[in-house]
Formats: sequence, C-alpha cells, structure tokens
Amino acid sequence: MPVRMAVPKETISGECRVALDPTMAERFAKLGAELLVEKGAGGSAFFADEAYKNCRLMDDAKALYAEADVVFKVQAPTLEEVELMKDGTTLLAVLLPHRNLDLVKRLRDKKITSFAMELIPRISRAQSMDVLSSQAAVSGYKVALLAANLASGFFPMLTTAAGTIRPSKAVIIGAGVAGLQAIATCRRLGAMVEAYDVRPAARQEIESLGGKMIDTGVNAASEGGYARELTAEEKQKQADVLAKHIAAANAVISTAAVPGREAPKIITTAMVEGMKKGAVIVDLAAESGGNCELTKPGETYEHNGVIIAGPLNIPSSFPVPASEMYAKNLFNFLSPMIKDGNLNLDWDDEVIAKSALTRDGKIVHEPTSKLVQS
Ligand code: NAI
Repeated sequence: MPVRMAVPKETISGECRVALDPTMAERFAKLGAELLVEKGAGGSAFFADEAYKNCRLMDDAKALYAEADVVFKVQAPTLEEVELMKDGTTLLAVLLPHRNLDLVKRLRDKKITSFAMELIPRISRAQSMDVLSSQAAVSGYKVALLAANLASGFFPMLTTAAGTIRPSKAVIIGAGVAGLQAIATCRRLGAMVEAYDVRPAARQEIESLGGKMIDTGVNAASEGGYARELTAEEKQKQADVLAKHIAAANAVISTAAVPGREAPKIITTAMVEGMKKGAVIVDLAAESGGNCELTKPGETYEHNGVIIAGPLNIPSSFPVPASEMYAKNLFNFLSPMIKDGNLNLDWDDEVIAKSALTRDGKIVHEPTSKLVQS
C-alpha cells in the first residue's frame, strides 16, 4: 500500500501558511504516495481545495490523522493533535524542541518519528531543504517593506518640481539570510544602506548587494558559519561604533541572532533616544526577545519620537511564497527516500539522522534529551 501523506490545516492562531502547496502535493503524488489534505488547509494561503489535484480531501483533522503515515506541518502540533496521530506516524514540522518539552515527551511515547526541520544541518547539500533560510528570506524582504512603510520619509532620492529629496539611510544589523534580503530590498527601494555583522565574512556579501559594512573591529565568527555570544568588552566596542551610525539612520532593521540563545541586545535605550525623530526600528529578532532593549514583541509603538516595531511570525504574513518555499524544502528532504510509493528513511544519511528528534520511542536529539532529563 502506498504511503499516506497528510496535510492538516494549521491550528495556531494567526498562522496562514500551509506545509504543502498544491504543486508539491502533486509532485509527491507523482512519486506514488497517496495525498490526504484537510479541507481548507491551504485557504489562508490562497490555495483552494480544488487546486490540490490528485489529493483526497478530508473533512476534518481527526479523519486525516487517523489515516496518515506521514504528517507535514509548519508549526509544531498541539498535544491534542498528537493524540489524533497513529502511533508510529512520521512527522515533519518546525518543532522548536527546547520550547516544547512536553510535546517532545509525547512524541517519544507515541513512537512518532519526528523531524525538526530547523535542525537540518547547514551543509551545501542540504541548502535546498533549509527551512530556516527559506523563511528568513521571506522575513528579510517583508521587514524592509515594513520599515519603508513606517518610515517618516521616502526611501529613494526623489527629484521633483517641488525640490530634491535626499534618500533615507537604512542600517541593517545582522547580515545573515534575513539581513541580506533586507539589504537587497532596501537598496531596491533606493535607500542608502549600511550593515553590520560580527562575522567578517559578511562584508563581501553586504558589499555585493550595494551596502556599506560598518566596521566595529569585533570578530565573533564561530562554528558552522554562525556567530558566538560576545564578551562584555566586545559588546562595549560594538556599541560605541554602532551608536553613531544608528543616530544618523532613518530606519534600523535588526536581525541579529545566536542559535539557541536569546537575541543579543544591541540597540540600547540610550541609542534609541539618540535617534532622529520620525526614525523607525523594525526588530526582526522580536521573536527571541529582540535586539532592541525597548522592543515589545508583537507591538508597534512610539518612544521619544522613534517608532519601534517588533513583528512576530512574519513569514505567515506573506503566506503564498512562504508556503511554496517551505513545501519545496520538505519535498527536497523527503522525496529521495520514496520509491514506488513507499517511504524508506535512510538513517545513514546525516541530514536525516541530524534532523531527527524522536524515533522508536527515544529522543534521539542529544541536547533535547539532556533537557528532558534535567
Ligand atoms: P542567524 O539567524 O542565526 O543570525 C543572523 C545574523 O546575526 C548572523 O549573520 C549573525 O552573524 C548575526 N549576529 C549574531 N550576533 C550578532 C551581534 N551581536 N551583532 C551583529 N550581528 C550579529 O543566522 P542565519 O541567517 O540563519 O545564517 C548565518 C550563517 O549561516 C551565514 O553565514 C550563512 O551564510 C550560513 N548559512 C549556511 C547555509 C548552508 O550552508 N546550508 C544556509 C543558511 C545560512
């Protein structure tokens, strides 16, 4: 019997994405899998039920989970959703295990084979499966538009009959996947862009997009291309240089993150109070506490004439491309292991092994296993 792959409707409030768009669902079906889609699953991402060709539409989540061998989700399932799954189901989602330990235990006890998509190793071969990158690209683009929208002036230089208007100056902090996309988008909108990252390798990427690197003299490159946490001395050095650039900016977009930790606090209250009236800060790191001391996650407000925005779950606000890219990542991850409609996971493949969270009644991701025991 062919493997049954299921696409439920996301249940977390405000989540508009769907794990498989019609195109990728059809591609799985072409590999011989049987595709089950909950009615309305793609609705918030503008994918109508009828668009899911060669898929069986299911009336509700209960009916869907009862038949599913593989479940594709964006957000981690709730405990109630896990109860609806058959023992031994395979689950793919962004699971954030350190924040969801009760869920991890339940997945273990139900012998669910779960893959936390955010754990996929960042090696070249796995780039096409990297959900962190695909969703960060969406966020970086959107956050630049948000900054332009909230800003009190034009981003581009304008020469009009009413005079010439100088372009805005945008400062981007953190030049990872999201930051680089924000740089590119701000440049396309005509702003002058300065950017900063603690990884010196970011310089070339920033410059190739037409941005100017802010050099603070701090180098915090660490394993796997990620940044490490800064020492107190390095933080001070960074703050002294950044304060001047932030004071001159019309828009600051911050995207700095250190994996597994709270976002580094980079923009202090004093820096905000030194900014121009009408300037804007959009803090993409709001999800993990914010890069700005004054960020209120999920809120946009004014402090001393500066607008501070801490948007959450930005990819959901752009659900069509975010879902399409996420679905492509899932397809690239799982499709090599489907032959004649059957799924055979290759546990010798490091991408599969390293992204697994639970398997055969055990928590196989070491850091999460330690957290559960402590
Ligand atoms: P991220 O979301 O963890 O962090 C965003 C950025 O913040 C990073 O560039 C980081 O260096 C920077 N940052 C951290 N602390 C900072 C501080 N105190 N001040 C200023 N900036 C700070 O990172 P992301 O975007 O997920 O990727 C980071 C790295 O991983 C990049 O080098 C990227 O090229 C690499 N990467 C590799 C992939 C692959 O080979 N499959 C896929 C995606 C990214």
